[in-house]
Parts: sequence; C-alpha cells; structure tokens
Amino acid sequence: SDSPASLLSSERILNIAHRGASGYAPEHTLIAYESAQKMNADYLEIDLHMTADEELVAIHDEDVSRTTSGSGLVQDMSLAELKSLDAGSWFNIAYPKKADQYFVGIEVPTLAEILDSFGLHSNYYIEIKDPDSIMTDKFLSILEDYHLIEENKVIIQSFSEETLKQIHAQYESIPLIQLLYKDETKSANYNQIRQYATGVGVPYQELDEDLIQKIHEKDLHVHTYTVNEEEEMKQLVRWGVDGIFTDYPDRLAEILLNE
Ligand code: G3P
Ligand code: CA
Repeated sequence: SDSPASLLSSERILNIAHRGASGYAPEHTLIAYESAQKMNADYLEIDLHMTADEELVAIHDEDVSRTTSGSGLVQDMSLAELKSLDAGSWFNIAYPKKADQYFVGIEVPTLAEILDSFGLHSNYYIEIKDPDSIMTDKFLSILEDYHLIEENKVIIQSFSEETLKQIHAQYESIPLIQLLYKDETKSANYNQIRQYATGVGVPYQELDEDLIQKIHEKDLHVHTYTVNEEEEMKQLVRWGVDGIFTDYPDRLAEILLNE
C-alpha cells in the first residue's frame, strides 16, 4: 500500500518539539513529550545515548550531571543504574516558577518506552549522539520493529556526515537532516549534502532570507534550532524556513495557525 504523504514534502512548516516541550517540563522525559503532543507539535525531538549494557536512552548530554540526580557518563552506567536516578528534580530547582511535584523522581526513558507511549500517533525527529556502528545498528532495528520507517514517521538528524551517509546507504527512504554548527553555514557544501540529506538544521542566529533562499536553490529543506521567542519565530516563518525546533511548541503552533 502507499505510504502516507510525508509531512516533509508538504508546504507545512514543521513544529519540532525540542527535547519535548522542554520549556515546561524536564527535557527528554515522557511528561515533556506528552506536553508536546498536547501542544500539537508535529515531531518529538529526541537525543540518544547508549548505556553500558547497550540500551538506547533519551538524554542530551553524555554526562548525566546536568539533568539527573547522579553523575558520570551514560556509557559507563547500566540501564538499571540510570533508571535509579531522578531526572525531574533538577528542573524544579532550576525553574522554580515552573516547578511541579509530579516531576520529582521521574525517570530517563528508553527510546523503546517513548515509542511504546506514542507509537504511530506521533512523528519522531531523532539525533544519535556520538554514534558507533553498534549504536546505529540497534537504533535502526528499533525503528524497524516499530514500523516507523515504512510509515514515514521518522526523521534522522546528525552533526556527523559519516553517520548520515551510512544510514542513507542502508535506508534510502529515511529523510535525513545534516545539522550544522554556527561556523559551518557559510562554508558548507550544500551540493554535497544534497547527495544524502533532505535538508539542513541550522542555528537560527546564522539565518537570513538570502541564506535560506540559497539553501532552497540547492533543493534542501531548512530547519532551524532552537527558537523560543515569538518575534524570532515570526521572522523565520516570513523568511521561508521549513521547520523550527522549539522548547515552546505551543507558541509556534499559535503562530502557524495564524499564517
Ligand atoms: O538537534 C537540533 C539541536 O537540538 C542541536 O543541538 O545540542 O540541542 O542537540 P542540541
Ligand atoms: Ca538535538
């Protein structure tokens, strides 16, 4: 049967919930992803690391100190050790006005737990941090198990050109986004990127109307991270970006509704 029309190929501007609705709840937790769903985000953005016992978990930093009650590297911990940490209380301390008792004791979720929660009712915009071949293979087999590839529910993003090329060689149909760092947008070889990627993910501070047009002329989508202020969202929409990563998907949804 035909696969559903890809959100990417539509005229829609994608509302990408950066680490979930991470402006309102502790990043990368199930509650942050539930909030993002309620706010009509198009994609749930997830960063992945792998534990010592080779489980894929949703967490941004390689070190757990910033976002949990523990310390040390994810790669040195078992999943059970990581699960014993509190991944919510730091948020209450950092953002007392947004604190909620419900966040206390919340766990770091595995990728599988997120997919169990939202299944095919959501779309996923996933970044594998520090990938090696074991991690990449595990990741791709989970996407297969949950039918995310055939149902067109996933975009894969990476700062690593090598990783994206490797994935493209295995799964030509998965849309890939080459992430660029601040100093790379002027010198990037967009023709070369177009060989394996559908678009680029660019820091919004680097963008203007001319650069967006230049990238579009190379037949690449322009997604931009991480935009939290409404005025900046509006300007980027006017300039023609194709997707925006935000910690506040409700703000962007409101703006897109009035487009
Ligand atoms: O993935 C886009 C953006 O999230 C990249 O930066 O550090 O938040 O993963 P980071
Ligand atoms: Ca990310």
